[in-house]
Amino acid sequence: MSYRISIVGLGYVGLIHAVGFASLGYRVLGYDVDRVKVEKLRGGSPIIYEPGLEEHLGRALASGTLEFTDTIEDAVLGSDVTFITVGTPSLPDGSVDLSQVTSAARSVGRALRLKRGWHLVAVKSTVPPGTTEGLVAGILEEESGMKAFRDFGVASNPEFLREGSALRDFFKPDRVVLGVRDERSRDTLLKLYEPIDAPKIVTTPKVAELAKYASNLFLAVRVSLANEVGNLCKALGVDCYEVLGIVGLDHRIGKYYLRAGLGFGGSCLPKDVRAFIKVAESLGVQARIARAALEVNEEQPKRAVELLEKHMGSLKGRRIGVLGLAFKPGTDDVRESRALDVIRLLLEKEAEVYANDPKALDNARRLLGDKVKLVENPQELIDTVEAVVIATEWSEYENLSYKDKIVVDGRRVEGARRTAKVYEGLCW
Ligand code: UDX
Repeated sequence: MSYRISIVGLGYVGLIHAVGFASLGYRVLGYDVDRVKVEKLRGGSPIIYEPGLEEHLGRALASGTLEFTDTIEDAVLGSDVTFITVGTPSLPDGSVDLSQVTSAARSVGRALRLKRGWHLVAVKSTVPPGTTEGLVAGILEEESGMKAFRDFGVASNPEFLREGSALRDFFKPDRVVLGVRDERSRDTLLKLYEPIDAPKIVTTPKVAELAKYASNLFLAVRVSLANEVGNLCKALGVDCYEVLGIVGLDHRIGKYYLRAGLGFGGSCLPKDVRAFIKVAESLGVQARIARAALEVNEEQPKRAVELLEKHMGSLKGRRIGVLGLAFKPGTDDVRESRALDVIRLLLEKEAEVYANDPKALDNARRLLGDKVKLVENPQELIDTVEAVVIATEWSEYENLSYKDKIVVDGRRVEGARRTAKVYEGLCW
């Protein structure tokens, strides 16, 4: 049997999965409460920038494997498996805001009441351990009037997509994690993921949920550890890329997530580390290393501004350019970008801030308004300002002329290192 899939929540994760599963040949129905978004997607406009997404979306729409709807009943009744892929942002105290998961589960549960035959609901959103079997299964039972793990399946199926390479990560993941409690859910998910060539780990929902947090915590800790080593390297006058290059050659350590600099941003790492801390502490468990990872991460943008002050004195009224606003290259996402922290600190010092990004100017404009002058051409930005902070390592920034400028480089852009008048690497 070829399963039909519905995806509830067409943000980053939902859209990539909708397009990915459709490209594998499944019939996919994408649902979102936002009608404008649904309309845009129907017209082939992918809303976010992600390499290959527009092409895959166009092909899936043209072949008829992918459709979008703003009616939850159509999505649930027209499919065998529903993935919940709504956002789980941080609340101000760092704990997880589960309101979107709650309302998605409610509307899926209500639709299930009308369903004939078995259905599987799989939670892909990153949620605290216990949420799938507790909150989600509970709401689905309440709304559908049926018994979870018997009349319908509930599972946890976390994703590990990186922005900028999300489709590649969908088709070629390191592992597929299936957190299940009943055989039918397990068999359904195993069959569904058959076309994906990766180890399939079958476990409990709670283990699957925690594995996602632990993975992101691990990555965040590596980056902060690299930054701590980097900060010491800078004080010693040695190059941390050389030091960490040697460290990473140890196969027990590996070379990834050791790039020191401004630290980690984005929609997952900072929020998931905060959530890990909250979950741990709610159970009376210390999360010292997780806390330290956040602390180091908060310090790096401050160091960048201190280095500017070292060369320029007071920043008041001075023209400073920020190269890069996306939280990393290859995306237009500015969520928790370190660039925004640098900009906030520069504005506090009353500097005149100019900024550029090849993809994220529109998203940045929404957040920054007219507080920052957004410049489309990076060379023009450099020529306008007295000093530059490099916040994202876009390849576009490699071949610019930085001559006669002060450059504080938060991301190790070799072109700037070669040509700037005064060059300060953040940790090298
Ligand atoms: C991350 C996880 O990698 C992914 O598995 C999960 O599903 C979602 O969160 P993503 O947020 O797309 O993915 O970004 P990632 O590529 O992991 O980078 C996160 C941040 O760390 C970026 O700001 C990046 O610049 C920074 N980083 C990464 C470093 O500063 N140094 C490194 O060596 C690696």
